[in-house]
Parts: sequence; structure tokens; C-alpha cells
Amino acid sequence: MYAIGQILKEIREESGFPLQEVQQQVDIDLTQLSRIENGKRLPTVDQIQRLARFYNYDDKTLLIHRESDKIVYSFEYPEIAIETLKVAEEKVRYGVQYLPMFQNTIYQKPISLESRRYIGSKAKLTEWIMNLIDTETEGVESFVDIFAGTASVSHQAIPKYEHVIINDILHSNNVIYRGFFESGDWDVEKLNDIITNYNTLDPDSIEENYFSENFGGKFYEHNTAKLIGYIRQDIEDMKAELTKKEYFILLATLIYNIDKIANTVGHFDAYIKRPIKPQPFRLRLIDAKEFENVEIYRKDANLLARKIASDLVYIDPPYNSRQYCRFYHLYETLIKWDKPRLFGVALKPVAENMSTYCTVKARDTFTDLVSNLNTRYLVVSYNNTYNSKSNSSENKIRLEEIEYILNKCGNTKVFECSHRFFNTGKTEFENHKELLFITKVDEERKNKSFATLLRW
Ligand SMILES: C[S@@+](CC[C@H](N)C(=O)[O-])C[C@H]1O[C@@H](n2cnc3c(N)ncnc32)[C@H](O)[C@@H]1O
Repeated sequence: MYAIGQILKEIREESGFPLQEVQQQVDIDLTQLSRIENGKRLPTVDQIQRLARFYNYDDKTLLIHRESDKIVYSFEYPEIAIETLKVAEEKVRYGVQYLPMFQNTIYQKPISLESRRYIGSKAKLTEWIMNLIDTETEGVESFVDIFAGTASVSHQAIPKYEHVIINDILHSNNVIYRGFFESGDWDVEKLNDIITNYNTLDPDSIEENYFSENFGGKFYEHNTAKLIGYIRQDIEDMKAELTKKEYFILLATLIYNIDKIANTVGHFDAYIKRPIKPQPFRLRLIDAKEFENVEIYRKDANLLARKIASDLVYIDPPYNSRQYCRFYHLYETLIKWDKPRLFGVALKPVAENMSTYCTVKARDTFTDLVSNLNTRYLVVSYNNTYNSKSNSSENKIRLEEIEYILNKCGNTKVFECSHRFFNTGKTEFENHKELLFITKVDEERKNKSFATLLRW
């Protein structure tokens, strides 16, 4: 039975018209009119408009009832009607923009660690790096990823080695490692409920907040920015009801989901100057695991080097003047959530955790690092990804310098990665060189060498 019939009947009775009079005035056959009022027949759009005019009633309201009756009676599986309507609502709201959300909602696959956009990520090179380490080293039980970035290399090392240390100076990276790897209790159903609740938030009912006021319309569409700010605050407000692991999973989940939709070319040094289309924003949990053999730090690599001992240290520092804390300042602000004053077009906070590896001191800092590491193998990634015309893109340590310093620590082999590992055919990577140095540390040679080296 169509509900619109009952509504029309009530309007007519309220207005005090007998059926026959309506039939004469609006020129609809009496049997038809009676079937419409009994809910047995759906009125046409034209009939609705004539009736609305006659009763002096809002035709839009009646048309909405007619459309919804049509939808309700079209269901072949009424048991999934509500879910179907929710998805239909999003398709209507977002049109083609719906696709990324579709991928998120239908395939509820957790987000993988490797899916993050990160300058210098070795996600595509891990197979090459780990194979070389496998063949060139022996008896390695402990592994350190001392400039871990996305931790894509650590991710491969965890199942192979007895002990893995993961370190990076950034707060946002640290939260990610703890969400993906750290041991601790967490309840996936509880987290899914929280996420589902976030996914049904209506941005129009949310107030402006720190995140939307600063980043809305710039790095994110304004309504999306409102949601991000609201969710970040909510995670903080809920902290007492969450385990540590749950807290870190939620924060890492927030970073990973907003990473995909940022209005940037992959970092937050600048946003793209164009109006941002409304985007669907639905969270999907990260693929959280827990590993007993992992130790996580957020320390300056050179300070940590003085405190740890291990069989192998993988070293992948920044090589040019572009600071990671500035590239990813928005995530740092989001994770620290101390709502700092922001400056400049890119809305950066006062600089923190600036890396000496991005300065003229890079060579000495690198020397200091390798000379202080207590390890049997040094494995160093070196690339010229940003070796372009701009000064800021020039590498701060030259290839020959790295080789020279490493040779002072022990016999060093150099491997060059074939393009097929990282080049998907894009011409801008034509000159991209990706090298890996593997040094078998000779303690005697190292101890003798560094007195002279440090006098450079
Ligand atoms: C080239 S990226 C590492 C990429 C990483 N191997 C990956 O696969 O994603 C360099 C990393 O070093 C970190 N970093 C820079 N200076 C540091 C320092 N002094 N101590 C610790 N981490 C530092 C940056 O935050 C950045 O994540």
C-alpha cells in the first residue's frame, strides 16, 4: 500500500471536500482517485501537481512522498533496505566522487602500512633491499631502522629478525608505528563501532573547530576539515576509555584516511590552489597487528645511536634541505593536538625537530652517526630523487663522501637498483638512482679511522 494515498485522503478530509467534487475539479477519474487514496495506485507527477494546486498544498512534500513510495516498493530484498538507502544517499550526494568511498565501504579491508604517500618511502624497494641484506650478511638477529619514515622496511624486517628497533623523529610517524606494531590489547569491534559512528556524522551539525578554521578550504574541503577536527578532539576526549593501543590505532587510522584525500601533491609544504570539491569522508581501520619483538623510539638518530647495540642498522636519512617536519607539519599538529599558532601560506607551526641531515652539517652528522653505532653491519640507502635544478633539492652529502666514510668503517659494497623496481615508466624518474651500501664493520679499522675523519 502506497503511503501517499493515505496522506492525500487526510488532506482532502481536512479540507472538507467529498471525493466527487475533487474528481470534478482536478479531472481525475473517480475510480482512479479512490484507488490512489486507498494506496492501491501511485499517482502520476501530473496528478500530484493538480491535487496540490487544488488543496493549496506544498507539491514538493507530496512529490517526496511519491518518490519514496516508489523506492520502498522497488526493493527486492527489504531486509537490506536501510543499508541500501544509506548507500543510495551517498551516491546521490557525491555523484562520481562516490567511487573512493565505495572502495572503502564495500571492501572493508583494513588499510595497509605501505599505502601511505611519503616522500622517500622505500615501500617499492623493500624486496630489493631485503634480498641484498639476506645475501650480503650473516648471523643477523637484531635490526634497527633508525630513520624509519613509513616503516615499510621495518615491516619486512619484523618477521625475519628476533629484535627490531624502529625510530623516527616525527610524532606522527611514532603514532603510526605504535598503531600498526606495538603490543597491547585492543577490541576491533569497539573500534569499528567508533569508526561507524564517525562515518555517520553530518558535517552540517558540527561546529567549526581548530582544524577546520585553519586547514578548511586549503588542505581539505571545509566540511571534511570540520569532521577531521571533530574526530581528533573526540579521540582525545575518549582517551580514558581507550587502551593505549586503541588510542594509537585510532590516531594512525585518522592519518591514513586523510592522507588519501589531502589537496596536495603528497606533502604539506603547499596546497593546490583550486576550489576543493565536496568529498565523501569515511574512515577505514588500519591493519593493526602486534609484535613482541619490536621496540619503538622517537629520538634523534645520533642520540639513539649512542644507546643501542644491534647486528645491523639500516640508515635512510634525508639527503637534501627539505625538512620532513615541515613536509608533514599538518600531521604533527594533528597528532600533538596542542593547537599551536600557525604561520605562512602553508600554515606551519614554529619549527620543531629540524634535522641536521638537511643542512651543511649533514656530512659531519652522518660521520658522527656511523662512528657511534655499535653494530656489525651498516646498510645505507642513497638516492638522488630530488636532484633537480633547484638548490634546495641538491644532496647535502655527495655519493663519494658516503662511500669514503663507510669505507672507514669497514669493507663496503655498493649496489644500484634496476629501474624496474621503482620506475613505472615516468620520464621524470629517468635520472633517479637508488643505491644501497652494505658495510661489514671492522671495529679496528673504524676506531683508527675516525680521529682523522672528524677533523674534516
Ligand atoms: C628518507 S626518510 C626515510 C624513509 C623510510 N626508509 C621509508 O621507507 O619510508 C627519512 C626519515 O628520517 C627522519 N629523520 C630526519 N632526521 C632525523 C633524525 N635526526 N633522527 C631521526 N629521524 C630523522 C624523517 O622524519 C624521515 O621520516
